[in-house]
Amino acid sequence: MKDINILAIETSCDETSIAIVKNGITVESMTISTQMQTHALYGGVVPEIASRMHTENITIVLEETLKKTSLKISDIDAIAVTYTPGLLGSLLVGIEFAKTLAYIYNKPLIKVNHLIGHIYANAINNKLKFPLLALVVSGGHTELVIMEDDYKFRLLGATLDDAIGEAYDKVARILNIPYPGGPGIEKLALNGSITYNLPKPVLDNSYNFSYSGLKSYIINLVHNEKQRENEIRYADLAASFQFVAVDELVRKLDLALKNTKIKNVIVAGGVSANRYLRKKISEVATKNNAQVTIPELIYCTDNAAMIGAAAYPLFLKGDFADYSLNGESQANIC
Ligand code: KG4
Ligand code: ZN
Repeated sequence: MKDINILAIETSCDETSIAIVKNGITVESMTISTQMQTHALYGGVVPEIASRMHTENITIVLEETLKKTSLKISDIDAIAVTYTPGLLGSLLVGIEFAKTLAYIYNKPLIKVNHLIGHIYANAINNKLKFPLLALVVSGGHTELVIMEDDYKFRLLGATLDDAIGEAYDKVARILNIPYPGGPGIEKLALNGSITYNLPKPVLDNSYNFSYSGLKSYIINLVHNEKQRENEIRYADLAASFQFVAVDELVRKLDLALKNTKIKNVIVAGGVSANRYLRKKISEVATKNNAQVTIPELIYCTDNAAMIGAAAYPLFLKGDFADYSLNGESQANIC
């Protein structure tokens, strides 16, 4: 069978990324241009600046991606693009660029859900084994999903309030860690011990998660200790937060593995870059005789290769978008 090369575009937040992915599994070339340092000046992503920077960067990112491979645009079989969820202005830059390429070079256009992209990051250099349990942990989502086959999802549980990545970012702010907070907390926690007794989120047997109580507890604790002029052990607090936040995921995953008897686990989304989380999730999977896949670090956070991997099953089905494709800021997996 002829190889299928998909050129994929990701601009949903503050990374401009373009990749060429062969047969949904091999990354032929990828470029990621991050705006992180610019947004760090403001303590978080400024949507207006993000769209402007995507517009400035996207053609250069395409040139870079093509330079790294012998493939030409004429070797490309389809153009894929993230259309939801994300910052609307940012998504639209990628969508218009994708449509223009599809139109000029007469290629089919494929629309990809960013969260499903994170799931398919696990299909890079790897074959997904179904049924599987997918734990999605990103800046905007925390979900536990059963995946029966390609694009066949069933939601088991989700966060009732904040996403885990959001909790990492907000707790980081109160601990004076610059944006993006997740990697900063991970680093700080390495020097700390789990000595703060923080409240456990949802102590029920559902598959839902909750992070706002934990976040608010830490914000209040820091305020109160500052007012009393007590010492705050920042590294210990980071380690204690991380322990409770990840334990919540581990407990719910453990429950799902026992109840569903599913033996394959994948982890998806930016927070899956966290080494402590990777270790704890791997431990609980092994305890349940399940196989776990977590993407390589570069494919955990936002990147276009995962969009190319997620577009491949859609290409095989002939599930193409037309030129009326628009961006949508909100979406779930199913
Ligand atoms: O998937 P992602 O790159 O963007 C979204 O789709 O939301 O996830 C971003 C989130 C942020 O909340 C960031 O702080 C978190 O992932 N994150 C981490 C780590 N790297 C990124 N959280 C904890 N530890 C990390 N090493
Ligand atoms: Zn993402």
